[in-house]
Amino acid sequence: MTEPGWENVEQKIEGIDGWLSDIENHFLYSTAKNCANKGVIVEIGSWKGRSTICLALGSKEGKQVKVYAIDPHTGSPDHQRPGQKIWTFNEFTNNIRAAGAASLVIPVISTAEDAVKNWNLPIEFIFIDANYHDHELTKNLIINWSKHLIRGGTIALNSTNPSMLGILSGKPLHGLPGPKKAVADLIYGSRNFKNIRLAGCITYAQKCDNNTLSERMAGRFTQLKSGFLYSIHGAYLLLTKIPSPIKKFLKKSLASRTNLKS
Ligand SMILES: C[S@@+](CC[C@H](N)C(=O)[O-])C[C@H]1O[C@@H](n2cnc3c(N)ncnc32)[C@H](O)[C@@H]1O
Repeated sequence: MTEPGWENVEQKIEGIDGWLSDIENHFLYSTAKNCANKGVIVEIGSWKGRSTICLALGSKEGKQVKVYAIDPHTGSPDHQRPGQKIWTFNEFTNNIRAAGAASLVIPVISTAEDAVKNWNLPIEFIFIDANYHDHELTKNLIINWSKHLIRGGTIALNSTNPSMLGILSGKPLHGLPGPKKAVADLIYGSRNFKNIRLAGCITYAQKCDNNTLSERMAGRFTQLKSGFLYSIHGAYLLLTKIPSPIKKFLKKSLASRTNLKS
């Protein structure tokens, strides 16, 4: 089925630097589109605006909920190189304007840690993609920001699950150990989240007062699914590390056993 709104977004983000696949970008778009305007949308980590555009254009088709895009615009440790200064704000602004998303995006040039100190708006949807590897930093983000999430609001964290599509296409985007553990402790292990699901590398959940036993069991099932994907991802990485002479030998002996050409 074609989805004209989404096709338009795909065209607008084409060529903008970023790491998210269609699955994750579409998740952002459709969750923003479904927001009921009971709180704002917050993005932590916007880089050059690719994911921000998905959120804003989804929101534009829905209830026009404002998107607060929080980023110091100086990159994450992964992006920083000695002697090189990163400043993504100008490119971010140009991309947001060109996509026709400027009326809904409020850029906040700050770290998430500083921004939360004076935060006083209810949040309906928060997307966390600051590319933290660190368990404690991710944990603090979840604890401090989810206080502002409304009941029924959605929290989504990137880099917390390996993407099956990534594995199949030979570009295995993966979950990072720190965020993975933070999600295990504070989302899967919490009574305050339900409907825990996966969308590519994203884990997302809805805030609630007290989840039921069946909601907790459904959450644990999602966690098992994620664990299974981690195993496939691990096996994939192992295969890519096998030296080519050994791979050639294995291929040859497999082919001779099955009477196939190697
Ligand atoms: C992986 S990129 C985000 C990509 C973006 N979500 C997208 O898909 O287009 C991570 C971003 O997090 C930002 N960042 C790093 N530390 C941060 C912090 N403490 N608070 C908020 N953002 C941070 C970096 O500047 C960088 O732009």
